[in-house]
Amino acid sequence: MRDIIINQPLDMHLHLRDNDMLKLVAPFSAKSFSGGLIMPNLSTPITNKQMLMSYKNRVLEAIDGNNFEPYMTLFYQNYDTKFLKDIQNDITAIKLYPAGITTNSKQGVSNFDIKELEPTLSVMSELDIPLCVHGETDGFVMDRESQFMDIYEQLATNFPKLNIIMEHITTKDATKIVQKYDNLYATITAHHLLITLDDVAGGFLDPHLFCKPIAKRYEDKEALVKLATSGNKKVMFGSDSAPHPTHKKECCGCAAGVFTAPIALQLLCELFIKDEQNINLQEQNLQKFLSSNAVDIYGLTPPNKTITLREKNYKVAVDYKNTTHTITPMYGGKTIKWSII
Ligand code: DOR
Ligand code: ZN
Repeated sequence: MRDIIINQPLDMHLHLRDNDMLKLVAPFSAKSFSGGLIMPNLSTPITNKQMLMSYKNRVLEAIDGNNFEPYMTLFYQNYDTKFLKDIQNDITAIKLYPAGITTNSKQGVSNFDIKELEPTLSVMSELDIPLCVHGETDGFVMDRESQFMDIYEQLATNFPKLNIIMEHITTKDATKIVQKYDNLYATITAHHLLITLDDVAGGFLDPHLFCKPIAKRYEDKEALVKLATSGNKKVMFGSDSAPHPTHKKECCGCAAGVFTAPIALQLLCELFIKDEQNINLQEQNLQKFLSSNAVDIYGLTPPNKTITLREKNYKVAVDYKNTTHTITPMYGGKTIKWSII
């Protein structure tokens, strides 16, 4: 039975929601990870300091004494220098959503003209505040991310000092662009390393695997796996764990989001640790993907925490509940090959 130890694992793209849902889901992330980048797309997005600080306090309360650092983000809008200077020490990044592209993104950006974005992005660049981007157009669903590559290239070349993180990349195209520009980085989810559109809709429809961006083709998944497992310094883990109540997934008009927080680390272990001969390299690359790359990219000092994983079957719960909510995780009721001990 093999054990793998991960130091300070980080989840650099995490939806914790609010209120009773936050209380239900936060302990799963706090158990597995040393810290996480907390997304700002609450039903009223986080757009000022007062909202940010009170949300951070609610997150800290919900992790219930666990050693877990919530790295806070702000929802991208036009912000002025005074505002950004005042909030810069309280945030790790600002998250940009195209308007209407996904959950709670109505107030996002509808005009990607560089002139329109310049005032805010030039100040962010000056203050060294990273920009995280949900990179999808409103085109044909399988092409949305690829169609956004032009915008990434324009952002990267017009703001060469701005660190830009391409969130939850899903395509072979994105794996190439991220390596083309010094100031582009990317997060990759566990589910996009494991599934294709066939798993979502190729047989019976699986609403618990439906998310934005939608999982793509086999060759896209292969390109993502190759990049993530290579130890490349430009990519890091971001689960995009995005819980929705089970009744909002198992219905007509299914909400987008895959809830992976309780099993993400275990799934990554299974993916990275493949064969006996290269075990040291595989472990090192897993450590880079799960922590050191993010530490370098964002300049973080995460709380000390080591997580031990064992190659031992783990039966994923069918669902998780509190008095208000029931949520269904990815692979609910199935058995996976690694456990946290
Ligand atoms: O599937 C998704 N769910 N993609 C996103 O970009 C947002 C997320 C959510 O907040 O539910
Ligand atoms: Zn997300």
